[in-house]
Amino acid sequence: MKSIDDLYTKNAAIYDKISNDRDFSEQSRKLINYFKLDSKNVVDLFSGPGRHIKSFNDNGANCIGIDFSQEMRRIAISNEFACEEDYICLKLPAKSWPKNVNNVHAFLLLRYSCGYLTISELNELIIECIKISPNGSGVLIIELHSMKNAHNGFLDLEIIERECFFEGGSIKCRWPSSKPLYDDLSSQVAMPVEIDVYNGNKLKESLKYVSKESIHSFETIQFIANINGLKSEVVNDESVLNYFPNSVVAAIYL
Ligand SMILES: C[S@@+](CC[C@H](N)C(=O)[O-])C[C@H]1O[C@@H](n2cnc3c(N)ncnc32)[C@H](O)[C@@H]1O
Repeated sequence: MKSIDDLYTKNAAIYDKISNDRDFSEQSRKLINYFKLDSKNVVDLFSGPGRHIKSFNDNGANCIGIDFSQEMRRIAISNEFACEEDYICLKLPAKSWPKNVNNVHAFLLLRYSCGYLTISELNELIIECIKISPNGSGVLIIELHSMKNAHNGFLDLEIIERECFFEGGSIKCRWPSSKPLYDDLSSQVAMPVEIDVYNGNKLKESLKYVSKESIHSFETIQFIANINGLKSEVVNDESVLNYFPNSVVAAIYL
């Protein structure tokens, strides 16, 4: 079965359609208010089609995006969610970052994207973020799976079944489409993903992927923060959490 990277790099237009299922504007507004990011420099890591880039910019922050997929970048630019210079293609963690990425007050790691990094890669990324943020006033905001939900086989995940309609067709996505396979020795889970693309009512193609994700708990985030001498917290503010259902929103102060 193909890796989910194939969806992100070769079928990003499909991911773009199925991922427009959250209130990006309100999520961004709540995070800007909670973390006081008005007029601040923000980098959306693993930014995908770039909806958070647009909504952070619309709501008063200066936001750019980073993602390894050229196709995601092209889609973000053609949808006018980001301009060319504000969307960087880079595989994370990265040894060296473009020079224009500096003085960053907040880094975003939303929609469980930290799961695409092992614990040691996540540690590497955090060390990179420390270097790029202003001394003592940066924050890394991480959206994690709730561990109760993870142990329950992700059955409560609101994005398990997604259906979207567009002119001439529709897409149905199941993520995970069947029982996830848990690794014996690590926090990695292999999630089967099935995406059916319809032309009118006719099935045009059926895509199958496996998304290998590390399920990091807040305990892991807290541990990485501690070994780097940093403070961390879980956001308990309902007005923020209402826009991140079934997730844990954590922050590391850089
Ligand atoms: C789940 S999507 C997140 C989309 C977006 N952040 C959101 O909230 O909707 C994950 C994104 O991470 C990107 N990605 C996966 N592994 C990556 C890596 N090692 N470095 C940079 N980007 C990566 C993929 O191309 C994809 O766009």
